[in-house]
Amino acid sequence: MRKQLEELQARALEEVQRATSVAGLEELRVRILGKKGMLTQLLRGLKEVSDAERPELGMLANQLKEGFNAALTARMGDLHHLELQQRLALERIDVTLPGRRPHGGGRHPISRALSEIEDIFLQMGFPAVSGPEVESDWHNFGALNIPPDHPAREMHDTFYLAADSQGGARVLRTHTSPVQIRVMESRQPPLRVIAPGKVYRCDSDLTHTPMFHQVEGFMVDRDVHFGHLMGVMETFLRRFFERQLPVRFRPSFFPFTEPSTEVDMGCLFCEGSGCRICKGSGWIEVLGAGLIHPNVLANVGIDKEIYSGFAFGLGVERMAMLKYGIGDLRTLYENDVRFLSLHARGEGV
Ligand code: DAH
Repeated sequence: MRKQLEELQARALEEVQRATSVAGLEELRVRILGKKGMLTQLLRGLKEVSDAERPELGMLANQLKEGFNAALTARMGDLHHLELQQRLALERIDVTLPGRRPHGGGRHPISRALSEIEDIFLQMGFPAVSGPEVESDWHNFGALNIPPDHPAREMHDTFYLAADSQGGARVLRTHTSPVQIRVMESRQPPLRVIAPGKVYRCDSDLTHTPMFHQVEGFMVDRDVHFGHLMGVMETFLRRFFERQLPVRFRPSFFPFTEPSTEVDMGCLFCEGSGCRICKGSGWIEVLGAGLIHPNVLANVGIDKEIYSGFAFGLGVERMAMLKYGIGDLRTLYENDVRFLSLHARGEGV
């Protein structure tokens, strides 16, 4: 029995040292000290031993138990520490790695251009108003001096809609000019507003989308003349493009203005020497404008003997593309996040 105890002691202590995990140690403890453990079983034989031998053997068994427990506790501590070290190494976080930037939202270039345009005109006393996108034929065409058989209608590629409840023809507005009519119908001069918004034309290719944005603007007061129009256009273009551009006014035709003009500015890209963007001319066409036609004033009941006015219309996509250096119109509507985040941070210029 003594020999067995001594052997067990040696073996148990050796196994404690050999254990490589906390779980393994726990298993070993049960194997030696548990109810069916090796020491427990050995001690059952103690009752067969003579009374003389028993105390000494009992003492030996207790020493074994204490020694084993002490070794176990020490080894347990070591292994805990070791396992912690291993986990820390495994789960190590490199705090010097650059962080991953969250995807930030941003404004679309059309929205940016629109608010810049609105700010500039507001500073010149033109607040923004809006009008309906589903418009009566009268507001979109008739009142603007474009009668039903007028050739200008063909240029507008109109989306025609079902008539309203009174049988009146309706369209998706092809331009923002009908807002002029709505404002002049409902208010008396002096008038000074812009009307930004969406317009629709049945046209889609590299340089046309069926929906696009315009900003209409007009002013009606006593003694408004062409010089006022020139001053406002020049000021607007120079502020929007943030440089002292040359601006020129070419004779043109629109049914709702007389005289009518097309406004050009010096090319932003070659400064007049001629390049691909301005097709070698040194000028870029950016606006349509003119003095409000007397027929239009008559249609809304404004006395042309007392009042006169100017009006203009511009394409927002074109303005945004020129200012932010966007080459392809379609990228504005493809919702590619790479394009959008580039331009939202103002880095696409
Ligand atoms: N409505 C015109 C268009 O869509 C743009 C325009 C030209 C508006 C001249 C005006 C203007 O007010 O005077 O093509």
